[in-house]
Amino acid sequence: MLQQRDGQGQPVAIRREDYTAPAWWIDTVELTFDLDPSKTRVLNRMRLRRNPDQPTGALRLDGEELNLARVLVDGQGASFRMEAGQLVIDNLPEAFELEIFTTCCPVKNTKLMGLFVSQDTFFTQCEAEGFRRITYFLDRPDVMANYTVTLRADKTAYPVLLSNGNLVDSGDLPDGRHFAQWVDPFRKPSYLFALVAGKLVAREQRIRARNGKEHLLQVFVRAGDLDKTEHAMTSLIHSVLWDEARFGLPLDLDRFMIVATSDFNMGAMENKGLNIFNTKYVLANQATATDADYSNIESVVGHEYFHNWSGDRVTCRDWFQLSLKEGLTVFRDQEFSMDLCADASARAVKRIEDVRVLRTAQFPEDAGPMAHPVRPDSYFEISNFYTVTIYEKGAEVVRMMQTLVGRKGFERGITLYFERHDGQAVTCDDFAQAIADANPDSELARLLPQFKRWYAQSGSPRLLAHGSYDAEARSYTLAFEQSCPPTPGQSHKEPFVIPVNVGLLSEDGRELPLQLEGEGQATAGTRTLVLTEASQRFVFTGLDAAPVPSILRGFSAPVVLDFAYTDAQLLTLLANDIDPFNRWEAGQRLALRSAIQAITDSAPVGNAVLDDAYIAAMRSVLGDTKLDAAFKELVLTLPSETYIAEQLDVVDPQRVHTVREAMRLQLATALFAEWEQAYDANQDTGAYTPDPLSAGRRALAGMALVHLCLAACASGDAVWPGRTLQRFKDAGNMTDRFNALNALVSSGHALAAPALARFHAIFKDEALVIDKWFSLQAGAPDRGGNVLPLVKQLMKHPDFSLKNPNRARSVIFSYCSANPGAFHRTDAAGYVFWSDRVIELDALNPQVAARLARGLDRWNKLAEPYRSAAREAIMRIAAKPDLSKDTREVVTRALA
Ligand code: ARG
Ligand code: ZN
Repeated sequence: MLQQRDGQGQPVAIRREDYTAPAWWIDTVELTFDLDPSKTRVLNRMRLRRNPDQPTGALRLDGEELNLARVLVDGQGASFRMEAGQLVIDNLPEAFELEIFTTCCPVKNTKLMGLFVSQDTFFTQCEAEGFRRITYFLDRPDVMANYTVTLRADKTAYPVLLSNGNLVDSGDLPDGRHFAQWVDPFRKPSYLFALVAGKLVAREQRIRARNGKEHLLQVFVRAGDLDKTEHAMTSLIHSVLWDEARFGLPLDLDRFMIVATSDFNMGAMENKGLNIFNTKYVLANQATATDADYSNIESVVGHEYFHNWSGDRVTCRDWFQLSLKEGLTVFRDQEFSMDLCADASARAVKRIEDVRVLRTAQFPEDAGPMAHPVRPDSYFEISNFYTVTIYEKGAEVVRMMQTLVGRKGFERGITLYFERHDGQAVTCDDFAQAIADANPDSELARLLPQFKRWYAQSGSPRLLAHGSYDAEARSYTLAFEQSCPPTPGQSHKEPFVIPVNVGLLSEDGRELPLQLEGEGQATAGTRTLVLTEASQRFVFTGLDAAPVPSILRGFSAPVVLDFAYTDAQLLTLLANDIDPFNRWEAGQRLALRSAIQAITDSAPVGNAVLDDAYIAAMRSVLGDTKLDAAFKELVLTLPSETYIAEQLDVVDPQRVHTVREAMRLQLATALFAEWEQAYDANQDTGAYTPDPLSAGRRALAGMALVHLCLAACASGDAVWPGRTLQRFKDAGNMTDRFNALNALVSSGHALAAPALARFHAIFKDEALVIDKWFSLQAGAPDRGGNVLPLVKQLMKHPDFSLKNPNRARSVIFSYCSANPGAFHRTDAAGYVFWSDRVIELDALNPQVAARLARGLDRWNKLAEPYRSAAREAIMRIAAKPDLSKDTREVVTRALA
């Protein structure tokens, strides 16, 4: 396979500053597919014309792993050459018709990019650069064309033939074949092309939009899965209604289709009118899916649907602008899920969950070798940049804009953005400009150039805050200093615009009015302070005593806040803050503080890591009748090992694991009675519904079981493990069943083995449930190094397959990337296993391999002997001469 390479055959970095408009435009594309798993024939007939702004330059078409049969220009055989993998044609007229005839082999496509076969069904994945694996093309997002697609295939094997847009014709052909022709009414870039062909069935729903227009919604799955499509359909309907209600963005197609495949590299893909999903984000019924699955499905269905505007109607000029659509669309799906919540408490729970993802996954990325700006400056392989920085940090940047212009102002901005740029391929600058222009009097408009540093500078800013009370002046000064650590290629950073939501509490927890010095009116509740300087201070007056500051309410900016809270202040915030995020955050800070103390202490880890005040505070949270179960579950969940590790300069993962396990056991035994009560008080009686309120009750009951089993294992008590096994057997839904199984497995109880066997027997035909079965075992807390041998065993299980990304993730990623206490071994065996798997996967599926290769990004922080062993393992991968561009980029940066 040929790639962009320099004279030495090394891949070349693609740089944002090198962007130039294409020399040619493609106006129309007519594709005809003769689908055959081992040899699919593709006829591509295009109308091209020269871009008048780029009067010189040959036509260079991208292509990868294609067999080229014929090239015709205006119906005549044309001369062309192959150069660096591209098909190059010189001396072309200003406008012409180009026909290209190629074949490819979908059944051998293990990369799952381009056209591939999954369970006897054809699927495509073209983002970012998969279309070039289907035909030669200007495979870049700023080339937009009208598509007409004809699919021809055996009628018995492939009764359903789908592509983007509207079905305009279909019928039978000789030899048992048939055809379908689809026309997409919208111009689109090639990455939004899709086709599906196979034996599928659909759940269908007709809906009427506000303007009276009818739409057909369809969710296509394999025949046995139809009973798992109701939730996806409901989520889709909610998405359509929400985008119209909140942003005035209607569904613009007669037909909107979702198709599920079990072989997929990512979550899902927003192809125009034909979204293709990983089954994990479509299929759910109460017997097979957990509450978390239901909520993920709602988010992902929403996400892909919202791309129909933010991505499809307005797309990216180049891949450096990826966050233009991804950051915005994550923001939109987060808002969607929040707006579907019944109350403020459920909204806060969603916000806390989102921030937890940002801080445990994105902050480490931003501090590691793969750190990159939300709008990157260069890449070797764009697939490596579908990251938590582009997605989640990008969403935080959009959220800060909303904070700075207000919710209504933001909606005006979105309206202007789509009015201005509908049908165009644009940049992050264009987006920010539209939001600012719609709000000319806002802080955002005033500070726009500086605000846009969020797009340009990588690294998580640190915000050091300091408070001082002046009794004589009855004033309180909050002083802020911002900084941002150096990141690869960026040693110096300029100050960011940081919106900091602040409130002040009295020592007994009452919310105080905020009177800023020099301002007329005191305001009640939260205020947004907008930081722009490296250091800045704010003076609050009219205060009779030193207040407790509640800073960064709702996590109003993606920064690390450093404030020397006393334990007493944190306990006040935990018990009283009107901002649920900071209430939760106070508990996390307290737990983190104890964890770090025990980790950095030279003494062996004792069994009293947490102090009495913390335990007492957790006792009152558990017993608080005014708090929702979901919120309690979040407060009682200790910071993860990964998050704790990020706070340390040098990490001994084993020590982190031991300390956190000691904390869990302490919570389990000290609050035994409260856990019993929480379990009993949160039993569902009615029919199963996945709404946040009842999901929260199940989550808390599940958490209680985990702690009850942990405590029982320590004391030798048999009652709770027995009850847990019974619950596992009787559970009426997967959430309760899986939580019970998890309690047995994670406490290391002997009853786990028969429960696991039974679970497998019940669900042997449900691939997504078997993924859970694998993942639970590979992710279980390590006991004396028992997990790695088990993982090796699991890879020999007849149900294991490296080729299926979900299955590979369920075993290998659950161990290498999600189980630090088991993965980091003093004998380096975890790292050796990891490097073998990266190399093995790289030959099959570079995207998945490169993801796994990120597993040791933070090797440089590890204590010895981990650090040297980790480095060696990365070097072992890097030493392979024929690595994919994907994995090569990751390991090269890790060693830089
Ligand atoms: N645009 C998709 C989304 O909704 C992600 C697709 C990325 N695919 C890939 N192969 N890198 O987020
Ligand atoms: Zn997306």
